[in-house]
Amino acid sequence: MAQESLKIGIILGSTRQGRVSPQVGEWVKKLADERGDATYEIVDIAEYELPFLGTTDGTEPGIAAWNEKLASLDGFVFIAQEYNHSISGSLKNALDFARDAWYNKAAGIVSYGSTGGARAAEHLRGILGELKVADVRTHPTLSLFLDFENGQDFKPQDLHHANITAMLDEVNEWSTALKTIRK
Ligand SMILES: Cc1cc2nc3c(=O)[nH]c(=O)nc-3n(C[C@H](O)[C@H](O)[C@H](O)COP(=O)(O)O)c2cc1C
Repeated sequence: MAQESLKIGIILGSTRQGRVSPQVGEWVKKLADERGDATYEIVDIAEYELPFLGTTDGTEPGIAAWNEKLASLDGFVFIAQEYNHSISGSLKNALDFARDAWYNKAAGIVSYGSTGGARAAEHLRGILGELKVADVRTHPTLSLFLDFENGQDFKPQDLHHANITAMLDEVNEWSTALKTIRK
């Protein structure tokens, strides 16, 4: 029997007005789609209109929809931007809003910032460990100075393609492996 194709969500970590994350997410999706090895989709936290965790009775439809979306996915690519040497508040809030839907899945991280978003990515790795998400080693890092014009217009250097490929290879291998223990 043919195996169902993997479903990988490319999660936009920022919800800021004027954010650049959609440009980065669409670039990753284009490269991913060219592989033809999985179903890739952009998952935009902003669309779920999540309240700040614990400040409401939790009945907002976006909370259930967020959990359902995550539950439908086998793996993730986080588009993580550096805010005060960590991830954005929106991404942390969205991470906190689910538990089981994250468990036993794999993830890659594509980060950006003045130093490639490296500090945000390392914080994210710690959080993912608690959520039983296996984060892969290869980590494309984009520079606000070298991969964006005026910090706004995304013009990635070609050298990142190889890293995106290697990261997606690892996410797909681990997502396939982890699927077997979720059954
Ligand atoms: C509140 C705030 C804090 C920031 N802190 C950092 C930082 O510590 N390091 C860094 O490299 N960039 C920092 N930046 C710059 C962001 O990485 C940059 O604005 C990036 O475009 C944000 O991603 P977004 O456009 O997708 O929201 C910060 C930006 C904001 C708004």
